[in-house]
Amino acid sequence: MQTITITQPDDLHLHVRDGQALQSVVPDTAKQFARAIIMPNLAEPITSVAQASNYRDQILSASQGTGFTPLMTLYLTDKTDAAIIKEVSESQFIHALKLYPAGATTNSDKGVTDLKNITPALEAMQSLGIPLLVHGEVTDPSIDIFDREQVFIDSVLTPLIKQFPHLKVVLEHITTQQAVDFVSQASENIVATITAHHLLMNRNDIFTGGIRPHHYCLPVLKRETHRQALVTAATSGSAKFFLGTDSAPHPQDAKESACGCAGIYTALHAMELYTEAFDNANALDKLEGFASFYGANFYGLERNTKTITMKKEKWQVPESIALGDKTVIPLRANEFCEWRLV
Ligand code: DOR
Ligand code: ZN
Repeated sequence: MQTITITQPDDLHLHVRDGQALQSVVPDTAKQFARAIIMPNLAEPITSVAQASNYRDQILSASQGTGFTPLMTLYLTDKTDAAIIKEVSESQFIHALKLYPAGATTNSDKGVTDLKNITPALEAMQSLGIPLLVHGEVTDPSIDIFDREQVFIDSVLTPLIKQFPHLKVVLEHITTQQAVDFVSQASENIVATITAHHLLMNRNDIFTGGIRPHHYCLPVLKRETHRQALVTAATSGSAKFFLGTDSAPHPQDAKESACGCAGIYTALHAMELYTEAFDNANALDKLEGFASFYGANFYGLERNTKTITMKKEKWQVPESIALGDKTVIPLRANEFCEWRLV
């Protein structure tokens, strides 16, 4: 197949930062996606409806003329209570709350230290049908970094779901066979997003020819068997697995550093990368469900009406792109993509 046309997709997991950086990156997403779930982990996290409203205005102004819709989220802290959840349910534009175990990743320091602190909030979310988005890694430094997702599933997520069996949960950016199995076997209200980079790369890619800071993200890339399990899940046609890029821009100097930040920038060419992953698996017929239907179904959103067309045509990814007054290195910089957005 040389071209494929699908309903315009949604990105159900995206970081756009704020200020000038936001102005640089939002157009990349808006040229492909109709909507995106916007992560709330700014340096000053988005914890209130008023903050989310201001943040949304910034994104709308950066995407002017495209019809792009940001779907906002709030950041759960130890102080998030049932009253905030009620406000969220009354807002028209906040679609979920994000759980960052404190210390798990970028700007997660103000995250939840103990789930007991947010029991009333979780009860309210369960009864109001508001999804909980989960960064699924334990933070215990004694746990091997490659095992942190699996240990989180066993020690945190399994009991959480037992306590709140009707809570809608998205296990974000899954990276392991164990996560695929867990989500597949769980009830209908438990789903997962999968990034393009976890479909296309394994942990060798962090070290090919030297250390590759632009391939470092969290959860970290895993071994090849796990990548294959993710491809199988994404291309299975199961509505439990859908697209979330986790595109996470960091300035070049913050990545190429003695202590480089976690995050891979894929907003530039997300659909090109996903299409390649599905093509490699001979599963282009499954791309539309994964990219355009299942996420919208889960969030109770209408289907998008426009379409996008992808063409099999090689092109070279730029070596860097502007990020405010700095630069960001996109995935595959200077290398090639097999598919192009028409
Ligand atoms: O690689 C990542 N980058 N993983 C995350 O969980 C956060 C993200 C970011 O905000 O940079
Ligand atoms: Zn993320």
